[in-house]
Amino acid sequence: MVALPKQLEIGIPSIDEEHKALLSQLNGLFVHPGDTPQSAEFSEALSRLTSELLDHFASEERVMRALGISADRLARHIDAHNAVIEQITELSFDLMRRKSLHRDDVIFQVREWIIGHLADHDLELRGFARPA
Ligand SMILES: [Fe+2]
Ligand SMILES: [Fe+2]
Repeated sequence: MVALPKQLEIGIPSIDEEHKALLSQLNGLFVHPGDTPQSAEFSEALSRLTSELLDHFASEERVMRALGISADRLARHIDAHNAVIEQITELSFDLMRRKSLHRDDVIFQVREWIIGHLADHDLELRGFARPA
């Protein structure tokens, strides 16, 4: 399991754990550099990762509700999750249609879904973490 860099820590343990697990899965995509996005290994790793990411979005939204985050802020964050979900759907259609995709582009996109989203949106939850 990879460590979560300090600058990506939120301070809400359940969310930090899930982010860490997602980063590990992301690293898993780099394991076999020869795999194309269409290979069975790559697409299995990718579908495990995306299903974990969807579960994570749902649990993060539950945590945000429980923390009493304002409706505006919650709606903005859910929109950001939904934008990622749309891209996941698009990517799976492309893969199903056997569209030729470059693995680096796919990994870059997945990285954005996890690390990009974390940096742009999840870090705002820091203010809601209880001091340890
Ligand atoms: Fe999020
Ligand atoms: Fe998150």
